[in-house]
Amino acid sequence: MRYIISQRSLGRQPLTPLSICVALLCCRHFSSTATTATVSALKTVVITGSTRTEGPPRPILGPRVARYICSSLESRGHVVSAVLDPSSLLLLEKPHFAYSKRQVPPKLQEMADALEAADCYVAITPEYNHAPSPGLINILNHFGSSLFSFKPSAIVSYSAGQWGGTRAAHALRPILSELGCLPVSAMIHVPQAQDVFDEQGNFIVVGDEQQQWDAYTDRCLSQLEWWGEAARQHKQRVDPFQVSPAFTKSPTQRNAP
Ligand SMILES: Cc1cc2nc3c(=O)[nH]c(=O)nc-3n(C[C@H](O)[C@H](O)[C@H](O)COP(=O)(O)O)c2cc1C
Repeated sequence: MRYIISQRSLGRQPLTPLSICVALLCCRHFSSTATTATVSALKTVVITGSTRTEGPPRPILGPRVARYICSSLESRGHVVSAVLDPSSLLLLEKPHFAYSKRQVPPKLQEMADALEAADCYVAITPEYNHAPSPGLINILNHFGSSLFSFKPSAIVSYSAGQWGGTRAAHALRPILSELGCLPVSAMIHVPQAQDVFDEQGNFIVVGDEQQQWDAYTDRCLSQLEWWGEAARQHKQRVDPFQVSPAFTKSPTQRNAP
C-alpha cells in the first residue's frame, strides 16, 4: 500500500508486499465467490476526510473506518494504491491543472499520478455539520475531472451519532459525479463508529454483527468492482476521451449551443 504525503490518516506502517499476499490468502471473499474471482485486482485510491488531531469530540474516528475499508478492499484482492490524506494539502490556491507541467509541486504531482493510475476510488467522509469533510473536498478541488472520469467511486461516511453521516454522503454524490467518477448506488454509512471499530479498524462488535457489517460493506464494494472492471475492459476497446474529449481551455467548451 502506498501512502501519499502522510500516513496519519491510517496511523499505521505501509503494508509490505508479503503482508498483501497474506491478506490475499486470508481473504474472506477472493476464493469464496465465483463472481469476485473473475475480477482482477483493481487499483483503488482511498481519499480520506478526517483532519482532526484533537478532541473533543473523542475519539477521532477517521483512521478506524479507513483501516477497515482498506482491509476490506485488500481482502477482496484489490490493491489500495494510495491513501490521500487531506491534511497534506493547504487550502486550494492553485489547482494541479493550472500549473505548467514542469512547475507542478512534487506532492501535488504525486497525488495526480495516483489518481490518474487508479481504476476506482473510495471517498471516506466524516459528517461535519451535515456536510462532507472540507478537507476531502479540498483534495478533490485540486484536480481536474480528466484524472477521475470514466471510473467509478464508492462513498463511505461515518459519525459518532446515529445517522452515520448519511447527509454528508449524499452531499458528496454530486461532487464525485461532476468529477466524472460516478458513485455506485450502495453506500456505506457507519453510525456510532466508535462502537463498531477499534483503533486498528478491527471489529468491536461480535458474532453475527461482524458478518452483517461485512455483508453490508461487500454490497457496496462489489458494485464498485463490477463497474471498475467493466470500465477498465471497455477502455481497452474505446478511448473515452476520444468520444468525450476533456475540455482544454475553459469549461465553456461544454456549453449548450
Ligand atoms: C465540527 C464538527 C461537526 C460535527 N457535525 C456532526 C454532524 O453534523 N452530524 C454527526 O452525526 N456528527 C457530527 N459531528 C460528530 C462527528 O460525527 C464525530 O466527531 C466524528 O468523530 C468526526 O469524525 P473524525 O473523528 O474523523 O473527525 C461533528 C463533529 C465536529 C468536530
